Formats: sequence, structure tokens, C-alpha cells
Amino acid sequence: MIKWGILGTGKIAGKFAEDFRFVKNAELIAVGSRTEQSAVSFAKKYHIDKHYSSYELLAQDPEIDAIYISTPHNLHYENTLLCLNHGKSVLCEKPAAVNCHELKEMTTLAKTKGLFFMEAMWTWFLPPVITAQQWIREGRLGKVELIKADFGFRAPYEPEKRLFNPALAGGALLDVGIYPIAFSLLFAGADVQHVEVRSSKAPTGVDMTDIYHLTFSNGVLADLSCSLGHSFTNDAYIYGSEGYIQLPIFWKSREAILKRYDNEEPLIFKDPRASEGYNFETDEVNQILLSHKTESSIMPPSKSLELLSVMDRIREQTDLKYPFEV
Ligand SMILES: NC(=O)c1ccc[n+]([C@@H]2O[C@H](COP(=O)([O-])OP(=O)(O)OC[C@H]3O[C@@H](n4cnc5c(N)ncnc54)[C@H](OP(=O)(O)O)[C@@H]3O)[C@@H](O)[C@H]2O)c1
Repeated sequence: MIKWGILGTGKIAGKFAEDFRFVKNAELIAVGSRTEQSAVSFAKKYHIDKHYSSYELLAQDPEIDAIYISTPHNLHYENTLLCLNHGKSVLCEKPAAVNCHELKEMTTLAKTKGLFFMEAMWTWFLPPVITAQQWIREGRLGKVELIKADFGFRAPYEPEKRLFNPALAGGALLDVGIYPIAFSLLFAGADVQHVEVRSSKAPTGVDMTDIYHLTFSNGVLADLSCSLGHSFTNDAYIYGSEGYIQLPIFWKSREAILKRYDNEEPLIFKDPRASEGYNFETDEVNQILLSHKTESSIMPPSKSLELLSVMDRIREQTDLKYPFEV
């Protein structure tokens, strides 16, 4: 039985806790917050035994095996180091860090300490995404040639809050743009060679909308976009030589559809899950910890580094540096 703690009591922490009832071989035993009040009310709402009024106290709990970090992007680095330094395995919200420099330090520490670290790229563990991968392995799509994906929604413009605040590493790319990139990396199955970006900025200086094209070393193309100013379809498509796969609202997908160009009956997979889907990434962590390994083969730190290096390249092209970056 793996014993878990949650660090941070925001929106996604609530969803993670809510889905915990679907998780196997694990128990959610503690929560830590910057404030006593938040810790107490979160613990009460999700029936968690222990609550701590600081992240430090949570990390010090000797009963905890793994900590889920759900704080703003700028804090993933320091929160992860804190947990690893107290001997805890870490599942850290996306993006795993703000830049490759931070991530390299985090993963080096995890390796040195022999501890598990994984970015919470939950989409990669969802059954429709796994089904699409299976269809491709079975040759039903032919050769993968093009990937299209977008993630955009109209966020209320609140300059002080996480999404638009440069001090909290806000902006569309790190918040939602990471999903189309991760999706294309998963299905292209090769290194990114070229990155081309067009971007618009919010008044705070973070990116509002990004349109980016990737070319992979095997010739696969990706046409991706993200926005905090506009609602997109949020669908993803994988086009192959024999047909295409559609994943409606791909980042939380519940369905995969395969349409072949030879007019064969479409294949449809509908996920009957009762959860939001956050339990699958947690199951992955538990399985790995129970088998005494330190890396997921699906989302190892090297994949997070690949993902973040694309995001670093995009930010270089759009001249977006956060105030705490030298
Ligand atoms: N996987 C997904 O579907 C998904 C969805 C949304 C967000 N996310 C990711 O999850 C992380 C958190 O997002 P969220 O939407 O849950 O954010 P949120 O609602 O703003 O919560 C963030 C939490 O972090 C803590 N925190 C520490 N320092 C903070 C500061 N200076 N300002 C604000 N909060 C601070 C707070 O918890 P305490 O007060 O308890 O310390 C706060 O409740 C981000 O990395 C985001 O990209 C993932």
C-alpha cells in the first residue's frame, strides 16, 4: 500500500483527491498547505486524516511514500527538491519545471537519492489515448504523417492570478500549450527537429495565444496551437497514410475514433470510466513504487526533458522570459 500526501490545495488538487477513490493499492493520508485553514478544510472535504500548515511539515511526515505537487509552475522546482530531500517520491503537476535547467537539477537529485519522479502528464495514461496507440501498433492507420491538436479556452483576465502572472510562470504555453506538444511527441515517436512559432502576448507579457509547427526527424509534421483568450475545439487528430484518428477534447479524452480512407466501418472506442481520469497516472506511480523501480517507462524524466526542451525553444522564439529566470 503506497501512502500519499498532497502538496497545495488548489483546483487540481481537489480533482486529484476526488479521483483517489478509483486508485488501487494506495491511501491518501495527508495534505499540506501554506495555511492551516486551507489544510483543515481540504482534509475535511476529502476525508484525509492528517493536515499540515506548511509544505515542509508535510514533507517531513515519515509515513508518506509519495507526494503529489499541485502548486503554480514557478514552485514545482523548489517543492520537488523539498520532497526529494525528505526521501519522498514525487508526482509533479505539469509542466514538471519551468525550464530544462530546473528539470535537470530535479531529476539529478531524484537519481542520486534513488527516488521516483514523474510529471503528471495524465493524458498519456487515459484509455482512449492508449487505444489510439494500440490501433497504430496494429497498423490500422498506416504510417503516421501529421498530427493536429489544440487547447484553448477563454480565461478571465486576472493579472495577479496563476494564468497571467509572469512571477508564477503563467501564459498559454506552460499552462495548456504543453498538452498539444506532449500529444505530438507521443504519436510522432521521433525527435523534434524544427520549431516555428507565432505568438501574441497578454498585457502582463506572458503569451496569450501561440500557433506552433513542429517537424520531427522522421518527417512527421505537427500543427499545434493554444490560447488563454479563445475557445478552441480542443480535439486532436493523428493522420496516417491509411486514415485518421480523432480524439475529441483530447487532453481529457473519453473517446477515440478511427476512420480509414478505404471507407471501412469506423472504429469507435468509448471510455466508460466513472472517474475524471486522474487515477490512471496515480496507478502508474503505485505500480512502479511497488515494483521498486524509480522511473515510469511511459513518462520517464527523459520524456519530460524532451517536452520542456521544445517549450524552451518556443519561448526563445517568442522572447518570453520569466522574471526569476536569469
Ligand atoms: N492535470 C490537469 O488537468 C491540470 C488542470 C489544472 C491545472 N493543472 C496544473 O496544476 C498546477 C496547479 O494548478 P491549479 O489550477 O490547481 O492552481 P490553483 O487553483 O491556483 O492552486 C494552486 C495552489 O498552489 C498553492 N500555492 C502556493 N503558492 C502559491 C502562490 N504564490 N499563488 C497561488 N497559489 C499558490 C496554493 O495552495 P495552498 O494555499 O494550499 O498552499 C494554491 O491553492 C499547475 O501546475 C497547473 O498547470 C493541471
